[in-house]
Amino acid sequence: MQPVIPNAPKSAALFERSRQVMPSGYTRQMTVQKPHPLYAHHAEGCWITDVEGGRRVDYTNNFTALIHGHGRREILEAITQQSGNLISSIMPTEPEVQLAELLCERIPSCEEVRFMNSGTEAVMIAVKAARAFTGKSKIAKVEGGYHGQFDLTETSFQPSPELWGDPKAPNAVSNQVGTPQSVLDEVVVLPLNDIESSRALLRRHADELSLVIIDPLRMQMGLVEPELDYLTMLREETERLGIVLIFDEVMSLRSSYSGTQGLKGITPDLTTMGKIIGGGFPIGALGGKREFMSVFSIDEGDPKVKHSGTFTANPMSMHIGHVAMELMTPAAFDELDRLGQRLRGELEEIRAHFGIPGYVEGVGSVGALIMSENHIGNYRELALAARNGLLERIAVFQSLLMEEGLSTMRGGFILSTAMDDEVIDFTLQGVRNALAKMKSMF
Ligand SMILES: Cc1ncc(COP(=O)(O)O)c(C=O)c1O
Repeated sequence: MQPVIPNAPKSAALFERSRQVMPSGYTRQMTVQKPHPLYAHHAEGCWITDVEGGRRVDYTNNFTALIHGHGRREILEAITQQSGNLISSIMPTEPEVQLAELLCERIPSCEEVRFMNSGTEAVMIAVKAARAFTGKSKIAKVEGGYHGQFDLTETSFQPSPELWGDPKAPNAVSNQVGTPQSVLDEVVVLPLNDIESSRALLRRHADELSLVIIDPLRMQMGLVEPELDYLTMLREETERLGIVLIFDEVMSLRSSYSGTQGLKGITPDLTTMGKIIGGGFPIGALGGKREFMSVFSIDEGDPKVKHSGTFTANPMSMHIGHVAMELMTPAAFDELDRLGQRLRGELEEIRAHFGIPGYVEGVGSVGALIMSENHIGNYRELALAARNGLLERIAVFQSLLMEEGLSTMRGGFILSTAMDDEVIDFTLQGVRNALAKMKSMF
């Protein structure tokens, strides 16, 4: 079920034109709304305005990428300066060195970094790196894990219950029509937060497994977080079995100054990154310990992994990303944390006040009200809750929040440094109004 938008004639007209030239009028599946999307016109700070003039607090921040919201002065200045200097070139530039230095200084697993243009691309290159390093080809990932649009790592992202198989050894299920069986045969699917079953699967397939990839926070809908003991088991087993452990921190890097790995105190071998590190421009990055990154080395002849790309390390993404990340000082992360904690705490109070079943999840600058009677601990529980009304409730909540001047990603709240306590007050009042209307649904 998709959220319903208010009456919007200008967006309707744009959508009509779009339908002539794009399949069903869309180019991003995640942006689907009914009867059509709202088209954006401009944004400033934490406010985004649609083409009808509707102004809302932007809690989507382009799928979490915009940690500073919109139009922050330092970022606009950096764009002007860099676009005047150099937009792209085949020559390397100082900004790529600066951004790599910053990541290596902050992210525990990163001794060296390579750049890409999206999180998806970072994951694709990470898989090549792990295969080249280990000489093995299979990958392991958790059921329901999202790692971008690469067919191998997209396996079992959203399988339907009929295809799940054994809960202790889930089937590898295609996420697209037409994915070759040979791709699925390369994937071992682990049940998230089931330590014993996952350990057994890793041991059984150790001779074929090049890597385990996991988002250590998993901030997609439902916010099903890997438990600390589960991540610790992955770290210990991969080390013992000669399997590369990859943390996909494309989204979770916004959780702290040193990423989720710093927060949880577990250091993977490789880390994929993206989103916030581009300051709003397209980016991806792969970092890791020198030993693992040596597959890209040309010091002793041809590299094991050849990696290039027309827009790789383009100076716009590198410079703007560097400026955006420099603004994310420990104090800036602390302030985002404080606002996030306040929002989560008061969301929970409002939920309890209206007697809405559920709980509030989130870390740092991310929060969501999960309207589910039971705590959701893995993908299957999430999928069943979705079938039993969770999706519908999220869509209604999102639609009601829009009426309150709050633009959210499926009712979730992604904060930016452009927000302050006044915006949180406005938000909480909107949530109160929305939940008062929703009470009758329970
Ligand atoms: C954990 C994770 N990995 C990879 C990706 C893919 O990144 P991109 O959309 O930049 O390709 C995403 C995007 O949401 C993500 O959340």
